[in-house]
Amino acid sequence: MSRTPLIAGNWKMFKTGSEAVATARRLAEFASDITNIDIMIAPPFPSLALVSENLKSMSSRVNVGAQNLFYINEGAYTGEVSAKMLKAAGVSHVIIGHSERRQYFGETNEDICRKIKAAVESDLIPIMCIGETESQKKDGKTFYVLDKQIQNGLQGFRSNELLTLVIAYEPVWAIGTGNTATPEQAEAVHSYIRSEIEKMFNSNLAEDIRIIYGGSVKPDNISELMSHKNVDGALVGGASLDADKFIKIIKYNRIK
Ligand code: 13P
Repeated sequence: MSRTPLIAGNWKMFKTGSEAVATARRLAEFASDITNIDIMIAPPFPSLALVSENLKSMSSRVNVGAQNLFYINEGAYTGEVSAKMLKAAGVSHVIIGHSERRQYFGETNEDICRKIKAAVESDLIPIMCIGETESQKKDGKTFYVLDKQIQNGLQGFRSNELLTLVIAYEPVWAIGTGNTATPEQAEAVHSYIRSEIEKMFNSNLAEDIRIIYGGSVKPDNISELMSHKNVDGALVGGASLDADKFIKIIKYNRIK
């Protein structure tokens, strides 16, 4: 299998600039001997350039991601940040459509589609988040919801525009709750997502696309999650805020 695992930390609305730099530097020191895996951290907007400069000065392989972007390059859009600005701040990845953005900020699949387009056009690696809520799961609508998120989120793309796309399956009921999906549940959904990508695009893209899991990932459940064929990495919230904990996740037991 040629998919390089991606372990990504979503710091959400935590850490000031100096706190973010301190954690990033500690992580970069710990991670200096890791070569066969992609690592990314996504601090809040005000710390992006600072963290990125610090990692660069350490020649670190740790990548910097943003947690959101707006899909227009520049203009009178108070409070928004564009792909071009992220790129100039040293950002390489961008999380798009996180369930917290869908839930609290009203982001729709159509917004998410535009954001992915903006990321792709600026050579940023988009990490598109999808996942069902607890009530959707109870109502047996998991696959229906995922279908809509994938079909509408990726509408109008040609497969060659999505070669770097990462899909993060983050069941909303597993985020910040300690109720992680079982590795078998994650594998089943990831395999379904891969088959949807094959139907919508083609088998090459389906085979190459990285599908990572998010929702209460911890040092003690990462190895089992990663042992499954279709789990290509993790998007980690709470446990990525602490460099020591996050490095334990990055150094999971690699048996596939
Ligand atoms: P937790 O790891 O805190 O459950 O958060 C997951 C998440 O939302 C990552 O984007």
